[in-house]
Order: sequence, then structure tokens, then C-alpha cells
Amino acid sequence: MRRRKLLQATVGGLLLGASSGCSASSGGGGNNETESSAGTLLRSTAKLPEPFTVPLPIPAVLRPSGTDRYDVTQRAAKVEILPGLTTEIWGYDGTFPGPTIESRRGRQIVVRHRNELAVPAVVHLHGGRTPADSDGYPTDVIKPGGSRDYTYPLDQAATTLWYHDHTMDYTGPQVYKGLAGFHLIRDDVEDALPLPRGKREIPLMITDRAFAEDGSFHYPMMMEGMPGVAGEYMSGVLGDCILVNGAPWPVLEVSATRYRFRILNASNARRYKLKLDPPTPIVQIGSDQGLLAAPVEHDDLPVAPAERFDVIIDFSRYAVGQQVTLTNRFGSGGTKNVMRFVVARSGSDDSRVPDRLAEIEPLSRSQAVVQRQFTFERNGPSHHGMTTWAVNGQAFSPDTIVAEPALGTVELWKLRAQNVPHPIHIHLAPFQVVDPGRTATGWKDTVDLASGDEAEVLLRFDGYRGKYVFHCHNLEHEDMMMMANFRVR
Ligand code: C2O
Ligand code: CU
Ligand code: CU
Repeated sequence: MRRRKLLQATVGGLLLGASSGCSASSGGGGNNETESSAGTLLRSTAKLPEPFTVPLPIPAVLRPSGTDRYDVTQRAAKVEILPGLTTEIWGYDGTFPGPTIESRRGRQIVVRHRNELAVPAVVHLHGGRTPADSDGYPTDVIKPGGSRDYTYPLDQAATTLWYHDHTMDYTGPQVYKGLAGFHLIRDDVEDALPLPRGKREIPLMITDRAFAEDGSFHYPMMMEGMPGVAGEYMSGVLGDCILVNGAPWPVLEVSATRYRFRILNASNARRYKLKLDPPTPIVQIGSDQGLLAAPVEHDDLPVAPAERFDVIIDFSRYAVGQQVTLTNRFGSGGTKNVMRFVVARSGSDDSRVPDRLAEIEPLSRSQAVVQRQFTFERNGPSHHGMTTWAVNGQAFSPDTIVAEPALGTVELWKLRAQNVPHPIHIHLAPFQVVDPGRTATGWKDTVDLASGDEAEVLLRFDGYRGKYVFHCHNLEHEDMMMMANFRVR
């Protein structure tokens, strides 16, 4: 725990002066951007490309290295993200996004991660129902030069998961460097649906980054090699360049048919409100933890960090030749745009969006055997001058357990966000949001809370016993200790 002490000392010292600056930057910018996302905008000094000039990359699907076995190497690589410049990334197999893992429900796989980075790393399968020793607990590091086998039973419905770094105190900078990839679980229920597939089923990982003049990612660490983001970015790092699958404001040619997109917000802190221009509805078919009971049409789609939206866009509503921009209503300047589709040709389409997608057993409050309340708020500055982010007033410690749900039970948790928005993610236990204003969200693992917002969630604790974390998925908040442990007993 030496690093933790160090972080407390450095954070404490720095934030003595910075805590007022922090509240100003998190809420007072006056533009859309800082009202909708907790964070401070970091501007690139590199020349950014014209939007919609770089083609959308599709991450490669990882080939198994044996029956139900996969090998991934985490390493640094130099890649061209901005045309004409090189960016050093840290990537799974040296790519950003990492390779997509495709698995089947109930078919256990083992993924061996080798760490060829110069720093410790932890891998978490976000949204996975995973035994505790393979869940990527923040202190279960793979040392440089080491490797670790993660066992994933994947006994859960088809959905879009993602894997990413989860190293204590360093998740923000390490994910920012590129340590994130998709993991898709498929099953028979989904296979039986007439949804678009093959080349018309595309994962979209949305992130924001700032680039230094030489093309490198700019992440504002307080001190090189030490934990902690610079104090003015304590509320979150917002980049000014939007990347989709690692490419700046890319463009994708489509046919005038339906496409299925698995949207993931893998940004450290930025929230998006996605809308098509010219507008057509975005039809949601799935959420974090799988298919919805029935499709839901959205004119615009708010997406908080770590949330996934499985959606259908029907490009036959547009004329061939039409350019369709995926915009971000929460953005300003360059961050108003995400990517562009060009309807390049007509096409035949036998896909449909059925009225019924999956059976979802609704949980009811009467099933909850325990109620708990967790408030996510800024903590301090204390008399030591220390400010962190906290859950119920407590900064994260690996030794403190705040809840001990019993295996096989349902609990009601009231989650409350103070000061700024907090996207709250709970490991292991999928939940349903019971708030009447938020219907039809299906099974989730991350809930988007606006500042002052409260949500009640019904969690089902099944699968495995052991110690897991829940936390804010604004990665700067997470690194600055907005995280807590529960133990399933
Ligand atoms: Cu996506 Cu605890 O993480
Ligand atoms: Cu997770
Ligand atoms: Cu937060």
C-alpha cells in the first residue's frame, strides 16, 4: 500500500491549492460540455484532421490459441492515429482498441494476458459474471514480464462486454493509453433473431483524447511516474478529439439497409448525447447486460462512460448519396461530431427488428431482502488539505467491506450522485433500474447519474462468492478513490 500513501500525500499537497479550481472547472464552464460531463477540457496542440476523412477501423476478432483459450499480449506500439503523426499506445496485442473476443454463453474460456508493458496491469472484463480471482481486482496486478490466466465462465446472456485496465490508482491513464477492447457474448436467443449481421454488425468504441504536438496522447499526470491526475483535472479528463475505434471522427460507407451498432462509451469522463443528422430514430435493442424485452426508439441517446447500447440504424430511410453525421448534442466545437456515415449504395436487406427480443424477468422491490444507500460525492478538503472522491464519505481502501450481500438474494441499492455526474458501475451483479423515469433499460451494470440525481437499482447477487468492487466509472474519480468493496457471502 505504499503507492496509496504516496497518492494521498501528493494529492493532498496539490489539492490544497486546487480544490476551488476543481469545482470551478467541473461545473462552471457554462458550456454544454462541462455541464453534461464532470471534467475539464484538455486541448490538443497537435494538428487535428478534418472530420470524416479517416475511414472507420473495425477491430480484429481474436483467434483462439487452442480450444477455448486465448492469448493476449499487452505492449506498447506506435500507430498512426492522426494522419502523418505517430502516437505511442499501450494496447492489447499492441492495438487500440484491442482485438475483439467473441464467445458463447455458458462456454468457459481462459484468456492468458502477458504484460510486456513497463508498468503493472490488471485486466477486468466489464459486465462479466466472473469468479472474484479472475475479475481483475485493482490490486491483483500482472507485473511487467509476467502473465496471468483469467477464467471466464460466461454464464450470462448474449451482450456487449468490454475488457480494460483496472490497475489501482492508474486506471485512468492506462485506459487512456489504449488498454480497452470489446468482448461479445453470443447465444441461441440472439442467433434466432433476424438482426443485421456479418459486415452489418459493427462495434463502435467512442473515446475522447487530447494530443500533444508530436502526436502523443496527452494525459495530465500530476507527476511523471506517480499516481494522480493534475488537480485541475480531478473531475475528469475531457479530450477535444473524438475517436471511434481509435480513429479521429471517422467515416463509414454503408448501404441503404439496416445496421447493428454496438455502441460503447470507453471515454474516461465524457458523456455523449448521440443524435443522427439528418435525424432518424436510433432503435435500441440491447443494454449493458443483453437484449431488451422489446426495442425502444430514441431521437437522441445519452451515453455515460462504460455504458453500452446495442442499436439498429436503418439507412434505407436516407437516399443513396446522403451523408449522415452521428453528432454529440453534449459537445461543443469539435466534440459536437462523432463520426459520419455515407450511404454509398442501395442494398437488399432481409433483416428486421422484431417486436419481442428477449425474455426479461422484471425484478420487483418486494424481492429485495436488504436496502442500502450509497452517496457518491467529493470528500474534503480535510484538515490535511486532502480532497478525494468518496462513497458514503469514505475513500477506497482494499480492506474495507461496505456490504455483504448473500449469494442468491436481491437487494435494493439507492445510488445518489452529488456535486457532478457520476456513472456508477457495479461488478458481478446485474441490476434493473426501478426509477419510473428510466423504464425499458433492461439489465444494466452501469447507471448514469446526473448531478443531484438518485436511482434505485435492484441487484441480483448470484454466480459467485467473494470480494468485488463497485465504483464511479469516471476514471479520474475512480483513481481518486470513488470505489468501495462488497463481499458476496
Ligand atoms: Cu469497467 Cu470496475 O470497471
Ligand atoms: Cu466491471
Ligand atoms: Cu464520479
